[in-house]
Amino acid sequence: MSTNLDALVSPEAPVRTALKRTILMCKPSYFTVVYRINPWMDPAVPTDTSLAVAQWQTLHDTYVGLGFDVHLIDPIDGLPDMVYAANGGFVIDNIAYGAAFTYSQRQPEGPAYMDWFRDNGFDVRVPQEINEGEGDFLLVGDVILAGTGFRSASNSHEEVSALYGRPVITLNLVNPNFYHLDTAIAVLDPSTGSGTGAGSGTGAGSGTGDIAYLPSAFDEPSLAILRERYPDAIIVTEEDAAILGLNSYSDGYNVVIAARAKDFERQLRERGYNPIGVDLSELLLGGGGVKCCTLELRR
Ligand code: ARG
Repeated sequence: MSTNLDALVSPEAPVRTALKRTILMCKPSYFTVVYRINPWMDPAVPTDTSLAVAQWQTLHDTYVGLGFDVHLIDPIDGLPDMVYAANGGFVIDNIAYGAAFTYSQRQPEGPAYMDWFRDNGFDVRVPQEINEGEGDFLLVGDVILAGTGFRSASNSHEEVSALYGRPVITLNLVNPNFYHLDTAIAVLDPSTGSGTGAGSGTGAGSGTGDIAYLPSAFDEPSLAILRERYPDAIIVTEEDAAILGLNSYSDGYNVVIAARAKDFERQLRERGYNPIGVDLSELLLGGGGVKCCTLELRR
């Protein structure tokens, strides 16, 4: 077997550029599954908190190894889902739009994250509408893709649009297994444009592979939008999506993904990305993966 990874990259693959990321994470010191607010969670299945911590630590160390600036928020006893930091808010231009959770079990996380943002110099905006942060808001180029259907209310999309002065594209999620947008779409190259006008197909930033997604997670009108805007997107298999393979985090070149998402890994390599597999099987019991544990902080 060849060990030369270059051989696996197709000659037309664009040159990818890694951009240093600043992120927020929360150690799963109190992780467990004692309630069920998504189909992945089953309080009858035992969880191993120390294993969750060990797996999370590997993810954390992977990010540090990639040169990311990793910030930590203190976990709070009694908030087992706090590890899924992506839901703690949405941060662009140093403005932190706070989260307002759908389910009562997670509602105290909203103020906890807002306190952290305030203490760390962000301009905090208290949300008027139900929203679960970067779980449902993804910045791709100058456009914000926004999910609704299970968690974030569509009114929050308008709030975000007014707040950041950027176009927000509403996408309807229809499969309860993929209840947050970040379980159905992966942003691979956030630094390039929206993906439209990707006709040339040459070099980095052509729009090719800006995102990856699972078509069956969306209703027809939303799917039509995705097909039109991202004609060259990676389409992942149901199999890879079923282990939350799409729930990944990219710096534009390195893409941290679920270790078991093998076909997604292959497709990423073909497009010139560098997939890095991490095993977060324990955190999957709560219905989250790599991206759920990662909140990007854009100053
Ligand atoms: N148990 C959590 C919930 O259901 C998991 C959150 C996953 N986070 C995400 N960004 N998809 O709310």
